Amino acid sequence: MANDDPRLRRYWHVACRAAALDDGPVAATVLGEELVIARLDDGTVTALPDRCPHRWARLSDGCVRGAEIECPYHGWRFDGAGRCTAVPALGEDAAVPSRAHLEPVRTTEALGLVWVALDEPAAPLLEVPEWDADGVVAVWLPDTDLSAGCAQFVDNFLDIAHFPFVHRGTFGLEDQPETEPFAVEDTDGGAGLRVRYRHEVANPEDPAVATGEHPLVQFRSMEYTWRVPFSARLRLEYELTGVENTILVFVTPVDATSSRLFCVLLRNDVTSPEDPRARSAAEFEYRVLTEDLVLLERLAERDFGLAVTEQVHTRADRNTIELRRLLGAHLEGLDGAAPGALDAHTVPSLLEATP
Ligand code: FES
Ligand code: FE
Repeated sequence: MANDDPRLRRYWHVACRAAALDDGPVAATVLGEELVIARLDDGTVTALPDRCPHRWARLSDGCVRGAEIECPYHGWRFDGAGRCTAVPALGEDAAVPSRAHLEPVRTTEALGLVWVALDEPAAPLLEVPEWDADGVVAVWLPDTDLSAGCAQFVDNFLDIAHFPFVHRGTFGLEDQPETEPFAVEDTDGGAGLRVRYRHEVANPEDPAVATGEHPLVQFRSMEYTWRVPFSARLRLEYELTGVENTILVFVTPVDATSSRLFCVLLRNDVTSPEDPRARSAAEFEYRVLTEDLVLLERLAERDFGLAVTEQVHTRADRNTIELRRLLGAHLEGLDGAAPGALDAHTVPSLLEATP
């Protein structure tokens, strides 16, 4: 499965951050579709093709006028439903050409993001219980373009066994390469999964490490949740410091080989996004992310390999095998077809056959 799988039109994908619309219309490409996203003056958000039907100017280069988007070229205006409401060159009361209308794309706002679904969505958004919790501050990382498939990013995000290698420069412990056994729980009728795991990591973010009050190596509990197709949440609880940090990642398929990552941290140890500790938390997480991206952008394929027999798995990959099974089954379920070759019974035997 690659980013250009047409079945991905049946899911919500992030178009942009909601705050980005404060400065006017924004361009976003989702599954190869170039869109303009705008917040109209009545507060509603609209998504339309980013191509004026007149001479194909980009509406994202235009502006919002009241409850309409105005094209930058000849000033044609489009309302939130895509209807062309004015052709200034013809005068105020002139009829607009019947082919001047645009087809809107369905949108919704959640988690500080604007989401679009090109076709009827087949799954709800990821739930994030701590999003509105007291004492939690959202710290956004820069939106990041990556030259890898969305599923490959999620696969890496859920992967536990890479920490001692890819992240040896940040939190990974080279001398603890073993992954302890862990369980994977399917959730939301097969649209999600949950994994809990407790382990030791380096915690250079803890200021008490530098003063010698705390050891560098500390226990933390992780809880992963994933939602089809490309949303994931990782809740981290550091036992010694009481710091809670939820990392949310949402990856949008831009085109066949590129993706756009939206990432936010929900921290209980900072007072505002401007707090210097918030900035250093974002910088640390971005270093971690960069370690992953260096590797992901060098993968030999941009295809996720839903056909699991093409790759080799071990029991340390239990959650990412389950990711393949659930994602594959959900995509196949869209057509009303039975899940394919990898069903729930295949996974245990696959694991048993491997070390
Ligand atoms: Fe948009 Fe002419 S190209 S109004
Ligand atoms: Fe990683």
